[in-house]
Formats: sequence, structure tokens, C-alpha cells
Amino acid sequence: MSVHKKEIKKVTTNVLQEMKRAGERISMLTAYDFTMAKIVDDAGIDVILVGDSASNVMAGHETTLPITLDQMIYHASSVVRAVNRALIVVDLPFGSYQGNSKEALYSSIKIMKESGAHAVKLEGGKEVKESVERILTAGIPVMGHLGLTPQSIYKFGTYNVRAKEEEEAKRLIADAKVLEEAGCFALVLEKIPAKLAEQVAKELEIPVIGIGAGGGVDGQVLVFHDMVGLNNEFHPRFLRRYLNLYDDIKGAIGKYIKDVKSKDFPNANEQY
Ligand code: KIV
Repeated sequence: MSVHKKEIKKVTTNVLQEMKRAGERISMLTAYDFTMAKIVDDAGIDVILVGDSASNVMAGHETTLPITLDQMIYHASSVVRAVNRALIVVDLPFGSYQGNSKEALYSSIKIMKESGAHAVKLEGGKEVKESVERILTAGIPVMGHLGLTPQSIYKFGTYNVRAKEEEEAKRLIADAKVLEEAGCFALVLEKIPAKLAEQVAKELEIPVIGIGAGGGVDGQVLVFHDMVGLNNEFHPRFLRRYLNLYDDIKGAIGKYIKDVKSKDFPNANEQY
């Protein structure tokens, strides 16, 4: 008797391109560790982003700036060990690519070699064009990221909506085209007006994935911890919470503490 393993069709950059052509929306979530990445992949997500938001939600930093290349590789390799189907994209951390295309290539190769991930993401427009082109010379797929780019928080000064004014909107459209021409396989647009994001998605052939960018783009991404309500202090308008895990987990821990204190746990069936 032969045993047939269920064939898993892995998500590739080509699959994402086909999804855009077919009008099928792309689902993307962040993950940073083995256990959560396994759940996210088993649920059928298309793309997992090992985001530098790990700096905030995993390490407790105020910004994404402190996380290092080695720390991103640690998170990415944990995710890679869990995933069978999704495309895994890893953020190039602050300081590992800006202003130096040779370093961008070195950082990307290190991520791919040491984590086993499938692609990298970087923030910025025409100023990172040379880096995108150089990374692509090694056959590494690159995802772009425009709009609110958290690695530039000290330049912007706030996490408010970007490109509301015409001049910045025009610059964003031009940057999106530069990234597509340079060879990016997809683009994330963060916290910009929905109409502008929809226009970019229409004008580009590559998939455009939004976060706080409305429903007219080719896919959506959220930070896992926000989407399942692990973080109860973050309430931006764009966030839809599907669970309230902060309260659920806190409640469960409260019950456990009560059971230990009252000597209810462990009971006769919970010991040897
Ligand atoms: O780091 C991250 O989680 C991101 C998403 C917000 C797109 O870049």
C-alpha cells in the first residue's frame, strides 16, 4: 500500500503575482516564533512577515530601531522551522541596508543563508533603489515598504497618517514606480489614505499589501499581537481585533494563581 502525502502548494512570489491578476486578495500576518508561526501557517495565511515590529512586541522597545540583524535572524529561523506553506519575508533591520547597497546585499545574504527565509523587506523609495537592485543580483526577492516607515520615526516625529498632502502623495506614487522598476515583487503601504493606496495598486503590476491603507489594495497585513488582542494598549482605527487574548490570558493566570493559593491545584488526578 502506498502512502500519499497531501501535496502542499507553497506560496511563492509568482503565486502572489497570479493572485493579483486573478483579483484574489493576499493575506499576510507577522510572526516571530515557532509556536505562533505554526498556528498562522496551519490557518492558511499566504505570507508571514518576520517584521522588525519584533523590536516592539517581542523585546519591548519603543521603536523598531534597536533590533539587530542577528536578532532578526533568530526570529526568522524559528519561524522557518514551523512553516510549510506560507512565503516568509524578513525585514532588513534599521542600519543593515540604508545608504550602502553593498551592506544591503551582505545583510540580505546573511538573512537568507542563516534563517532559510524566502525574501527580504526594506523601507524607503528612490533612496533604496540601488540596494534593491543589488540584492536582486543575488536572486533574493525584495518587498518594498512606503508610507509610514517606522524606521524613519525620528524624521517624521509621529506615527500619524502619511501622504495626506498632494506633494507627498505624488512622491509616494513616484517611489512606488521606482521600486517596481527596480524589481520589487510586492509593496507594503502603511497608514496612507485609502484612495491613494487604491490608485497605487491600480497603477502597479506587482501586488500592493496595505496596513491602514483601506480595502482597495491587493492584500492586507496586520501585526499578529494586535490582531489577536495580546496588546491592549494599541487601538488605531485600522486595526480589527479578532480576539481579546490579553484579557483571556490574564483571566486564566488569575484563576491559576487562585487555584495554587487555595491548594485546589494540583488535585488527586493531577499527580503521580
Ligand atoms: O514590522 C512590521 O511588522 C511591518 C508591518 C507593520 C508591515 O513592517
